[in-house]
Amino acid sequence: GEEALTDRLGRPLRDLRVSLTDRCNFRCPYCMPSDVFGPDYPFLRPDALMSPDEIAKLVRALVPLGLEKVRLTGGEPLLRREVVEIVEKVAAVPGLHEIAMTTNGSLLTREKAMALKKAGLTRITVSLDALRPDVAARMNGVRFPVHRVLTAIEAAEEAGLAPVKVNVVVRRGWNEDEVVAIAERFRGTGVIVRFIEYMDVGTTNGWRMEDVVTADEILAWIGARYPLEPLPPRREGEVATRYRYRDGQGEIGVIHSVSRPFCRFCTRLRVTAAGELFTCLFGARGVSLRPLFDRGAAEEEIAAFVADVWRKRQDRYSELRSEATARKPKVEMSRIGG
Ligand code: GTP
Ligand code: 5AD
Ligand code: SF4
Ligand code: SF4
Repeated sequence: GEEALTDRLGRPLRDLRVSLTDRCNFRCPYCMPSDVFGPDYPFLRPDALMSPDEIAKLVRALVPLGLEKVRLTGGEPLLRREVVEIVEKVAAVPGLHEIAMTTNGSLLTREKAMALKKAGLTRITVSLDALRPDVAARMNGVRFPVHRVLTAIEAAEEAGLAPVKVNVVVRRGWNEDEVVAIAERFRGTGVIVRFIEYMDVGTTNGWRMEDVVTADEILAWIGARYPLEPLPPRREGEVATRYRYRDGQGEIGVIHSVSRPFCRFCTRLRVTAAGELFTCLFGARGVSLRPLFDRGAAEEEIAAFVADVWRKRQDRYSELRSEATARKPKVEMSRIGG
């Protein structure tokens, strides 16, 4: 048989995160601060984007290399006009276990949620950093109303995109007070909340170590109110560490990429909307698939190209992070989709 593909640190390729657009209608200051991402920001031109067929071709090429899971991201993926078509075409690829999406929820109507489910999406994760209107307004940068995000979460549940997950980025001095409130809001609902340590992605958010609220702090705050116990990982390389409420009211997760990096198990390849491959969220430069797509390269050729990129991979940024590495050039989160 074929030898399994692994990178230089022995890690297989299991997940692909596909950005569908680098644009977003939010301006979360930790991701797209509005003073940087203004009206003159050079976003990708529509003709630079991978087409739905190109995305599907890439996915089909990667399944024989070990790919099991695809996550569609942005920017905001639901801003992409062809999003349902893209889901349909990716879902038609045999061999995938899961097609998920990470969205800010602003465009996730009932109709859209049902259309995505029908097209073959299996799960959805919605970002929500605060419940109090003033804090939420500051976290999303555009005063988008919280109740509409909550409605989107319900729409996802009703469409059967379960279990719905909620991502909460915790930033010191901004939304610590929301942590227990958000946990409380979703306890007993079946929605899985994951609290994310604030990271130094990109070059624009002015990240400092002291802005990071650690997973241990978060667990202590929630656990003091509602006792928690650890749960085993669902699959190797899972980003979130899981806990359950002792009283049976559900589970939460913490994503501790700063305080306890998980690079050793990182099986994720990322591709921007323009078709640049990144082997790490904190990469500086991508490798473009555009030339291959433009000459109509066959799947086998794309697979060989990606396998070559993967074999050379030795990224482990989070294990090497410091205030100094935080200042280095890195791809923007909005371009690579988190
Ligand atoms: P599940 O399938 O639900 O476990 O999803 P997920 O955790 O892979 O996806 P999601 O997009 O919700 O990611 C949650 C958070 O973890 C985001 O802030 C991501 O940027 C962060 N994250 C995901 N993958 C990585 C990674 O490889 N490295 C680091 N440092 N952070 C990551
Ligand atoms: N640190 C941690 N998480 C971030 N996200 C965006 N920027 C950052 C950051 N600087 C999160 C979003 C979304 C996920 C894809 O990444 O809130 O939930
Ligand atoms: Fe948009 Fe998500 Fe970035 Fe916020 S974190 S600006 S919602 S892409
Ligand atoms: Fe993977 Fe890079 Fe994140 Fe480490 S820092 S887990 S190598 S994406």
